[in-house]
Amino acid sequence: MKPVVLVTKRIPKEIEAYLSQHCSLKVWDKKEAISREQLLAEIADVEGLLTTNNCIIDRELLERAPRLKVVSNIAVGYNSYDLEAMKEKRVLGTHTPFVLDETVADLAFALILAAARRIPEMDKFVKDGKWVKSVGEDGFGVDVHHATLGILGLGRIGAKIAKRAKFGFSMDVLYYDRHRNIEQEKELGVQYSEFYKLLERSDFVLVMLPLTEETTGLIGDNEFDVMKREAIFINCSRGPIVDEAALIRALLEKKIRGAALDVYEKEPVNPDNPLLRMENVVTVPHLGSATAKTRSDMLRVAAENLVAGIKGETPAYLVKELKELAVNQPS
Ligand code: DGY
Repeated sequence: MKPVVLVTKRIPKEIEAYLSQHCSLKVWDKKEAISREQLLAEIADVEGLLTTNNCIIDRELLERAPRLKVVSNIAVGYNSYDLEAMKEKRVLGTHTPFVLDETVADLAFALILAAARRIPEMDKFVKDGKWVKSVGEDGFGVDVHHATLGILGLGRIGAKIAKRAKFGFSMDVLYYDRHRNIEQEKELGVQYSEFYKLLERSDFVLVMLPLTEETTGLIGDNEFDVMKREAIFINCSRGPIVDEAALIRALLEKKIRGAALDVYEKEPVNPDNPLLRMENVVTVPHLGSATAKTRSDMLRVAAENLVAGIKGETPAYLVKELKELAVNQPS
């Protein structure tokens, strides 16, 4: 009998056909997202789970899924994984790095430009029929070219953003990361900076860090206090890295000029969230990797990870914290 795999979202026919060669599929193909209760109800006989960050993989779920061998997340971030519990239960966890780097970097840059040049606000101005004479000070934005961009987190995506900034827009690029990367500094012409110095010096502060215990709430009142009054804050990684109440205060009290956000403390964002009513805040609905090509590549990689896991092989993109679960590890 083929192993049972649960897929928690609709997938294209060709991916379904590929997976069906290796397993017996249960696909959650309803319009609404699978709820926690529904997920727990479906998981008892499952050996593989193809899912997204919306499904939390914690001890409770693992205990309800005694046959589970592999969880394949269709995303690069995997803050939905309880890594300790997965280690203990010997459940592999995978993700989809590389294929989305350039696409997320494009979105980050789109947000920088949109906030600096006030694109959504000016778009509304034109469409509302308010353009009766040429735009004066009221419509001015700020320059992106030759400004200073501070990137918190110079991972693969951070480096792609730095490259766009440096070579496309002649920006000065500062970065802060737990690990200094001299090679990237030479290759990209970026400069390492101490955390608070970066906040102090940057015209654009961009968060591109993974969400971990250490980074949760990293940017709060103190950090907004340090930023320039003209700074634009951009978050393209995970909402909970920022204390959202502090961000709202910083914007209301004009501690910073504006913000551009792809991610929020709670997603989908609450329609009452004050950020949604601020003209100087650009908002998009967690779109980082959302192009047809990239999402299709991510799904392919995730499906391959899953198949390797249920076959008892080491998936290509097993997350680094679970490397000790790889098959044929040297002892
Ligand atoms: C991911 O894959 O983790 C990103 O959030 C994509 O948008």
